[in-house]
Amino acid sequence: MRLLIISDIHANLEALEACLDAAPAYDLLVNLGDVVGYNASPNEVCERARSLGGLIVRGNHDRVCSGLSDMADFNLVAAMSAKWTQITLLREHLQWLRGLPQGPLRHEDVPGVEFVHGSPRDEDEYLLNTSTAAVDFREPGHEDTIFFGHTHLQGGFVHEDGRVQTFLPVYDTGDEIAQFHITLEPGRRYLLNPGSIGQPRDGDWRAAFALYQKNGDASAEVTYYRVPYDVESAQRRIFAGNLPERLANRLKLGR
Ligand SMILES: [Fe+2]
Repeated sequence: MRLLIISDIHANLEALEACLDAAPAYDLLVNLGDVVGYNASPNEVCERARSLGGLIVRGNHDRVCSGLSDMADFNLVAAMSAKWTQITLLREHLQWLRGLPQGPLRHEDVPGVEFVHGSPRDEDEYLLNTSTAAVDFREPGHEDTIFFGHTHLQGGFVHEDGRVQTFLPVYDTGDEIAQFHITLEPGRRYLLNPGSIGQPRDGDWRAAFALYQKNGDASAEVTYYRVPYDVESAQRRIFAGNLPERLANRLKLGR
């Protein structure tokens, strides 16, 4: 069973298409939310995400851009892009976004694995450090492997014998398609972030996603990916939409 795990596309069509082109064969697509917001192709990306199907968890930008909650927690740039997105989105996509389920989600074909946008206990929580991860690992009723998004930082946290450690993928190249592989060890618990497709913030501008593979012998592995894409084209759409310049500039920085 192979799951393609994507997250935080944020209306970046060029990055999404590049990732789908680079992705290996999979059985089920899982989208951890924030389909829209920040970038300038919300209708195209909603169309594509809907056609891909699979499991989709709603993100905070999906909720705010579709009018389900207000923008009180958003900084000025995020609020400007959310307003722009709300005006730009076709009614059918607005309705689809409003209907996305809140995590945690599970899938019957993938026992022991759970999917959230922010964290297991709060869809808006940022899992940024080991102390926050430790609190979430203590939360009862959750699976041993949890995929999350929201921070736009590829990597994750491992829990073993009461200790939590963070880990980050390491890549040989900075401008080509690259992969980083880990084996999930029995007895350990994992909080895993595939990274952001549409607005990475870990200093690597390449779009990010992950592949989870459960083998016949019950062992499991995760491969992280980074994929270069046409950033200039995504930036031109942001400028053409009169969205804040910062949203275009940060794509090339990966911050
Ligand atoms: Fe996001």
